[in-house]
Amino acid sequence: MASNKENSGASFTLTDNRNGKSYELPVISGSTGPDVIDIRKLYAETGCFTYDPGFTSTGSCQSDITFIDGDEGVLLHRGYAIDKLAEHSDFMEVCYLLLYGELPTAEQKEKFVSSITYHTMLHEQINYFFRGFRRDSHPMAVMVGVVGALSAFYHDSLDINDPQARMIASYRMIAKMPTIATSAYKYSLGQPFIYPRNDLTFSENFLHMMFATPCEPYKVNPVLARAMDRILILHADHEQNASTSTVRLAGSSGANPFACIAAGIASLWGPAHGGANEAVLNMLEEIGDKKNIPEFIKKAKDKDDPFRLMGFGHRVYKNYDPRATVMQKTCHEVLDELGIKNEPLLDLAMELEKIALEDDYFVQKKLYPNVDFYSGIIFRAMGIPTTMFTVLFAVARTVGWVAQWNEMIEDPMQKIGRPRQLYTGETQRRYIPLHKRGSKSQG
Ligand code: ACO
Repeated sequence: MASNKENSGASFTLTDNRNGKSYELPVISGSTGPDVIDIRKLYAETGCFTYDPGFTSTGSCQSDITFIDGDEGVLLHRGYAIDKLAEHSDFMEVCYLLLYGELPTAEQKEKFVSSITYHTMLHEQINYFFRGFRRDSHPMAVMVGVVGALSAFYHDSLDINDPQARMIASYRMIAKMPTIATSAYKYSLGQPFIYPRNDLTFSENFLHMMFATPCEPYKVNPVLARAMDRILILHADHEQNASTSTVRLAGSSGANPFACIAAGIASLWGPAHGGANEAVLNMLEEIGDKKNIPEFIKKAKDKDDPFRLMGFGHRVYKNYDPRATVMQKTCHEVLDELGIKNEPLLDLAMELEKIALEDDYFVQKKLYPNVDFYSGIIFRAMGIPTTMFTVLFAVARTVGWVAQWNEMIEDPMQKIGRPRQLYTGETQRRYIPLHKRGSKSQG
């Protein structure tokens, strides 16, 4: 880990029914980004906890992996800008970078790609495991179940204190995730599972396992494979988001890596997180026509209406999400390649973006399109069904989860994650035996 330096302190006074005593807490600087106030001794010294629902002002760990400047719309992985990685790298290179901290040499890359490739096949018994699911299961439900179940198949990589076992588990998950994802899809169609092919790249393999059948040859379109690769890069990591924090929290108890990643997938599923790309497409279909946009913008602004513009807004970005810029460009490339001249949903999305970006409500709250705003349109054009959108996000984010999980295990500061609370319930009261309770008492 890069060293951090302790700066001057932050002082504060506890008033309100207290003794007016002043306290000083250390302030720590990272390599860039906001300083943090070190509150580790706060409770011991003051008897108070902090209160921060949603962790809007709380740093839960120190990390060397990903940096976001939400005001400037900057996203760096190990110091490299996301747009440069999307333009010049491929997903395997970004995986290596996230896991090991440096871009690989040609030799390192070849070895890494080969190791990932030779881990793509699933234990044959896992294929039988799929058959326990209902055919109409959501593929994310299948992902949570099957990835969790990997811990029952790969006992030899469960020792989290062995760095080599950790790396084997990490490689296994990165490599097998596309196979699991596409098997979940094939299962829902009632088609045979397609096994991975070692002569294809990671992204080509994904498209092959998704769309090939044993009945006829399937040729992967290189433009679509490149677009898929770029989408994987854009989703690879995003520092301490909900699913990554879930992985870290689950892992902080010493739980095995497969179980931790299954927990991350569960968290990603929600519409406020990875489920948003599916929700964007449903929303665009509901809007249906450009003439209905003002009505939906009005609904999004109405406090009494739960409707939100999906694909808009972000906890960290208060500027254009840099991933959305690349995604919009990729969207045009894919539609051009597929000869789709007029995609009504893309026209609708661009018009919606234009109107929202000029609207005072969105301007003042700094709500910009996020990575999910255009990804659904690309997936749809590629023939990927809506229920698979979040699954693809999980395939891409697996490397981020395992990189963050490995970093956490190696961090000497690591402790079990155990937040505290502001208790607002009943204080201790006298127990009343059942026969003495009145009819109004509630269970
Ligand atoms: N449409 C309308 N209003 C919005 C939207 C939106 N998409 N997003 C935020 N707001 C409003 C909120 O109502 C709130 O208004 P208020 O201050 O008057 O109460 C204000 O903007 C701040 O929003 P919060 O929900 O407090 O911000 P938070 O950081 O908690 O939420 C989130 C971020 C969940 C992403 C939110 O913007 C949202 O729900 N967006 C739509 C879902 C989405 O696209 N999710 C994908 C996120 S990216 C990812 O996970 C890959």
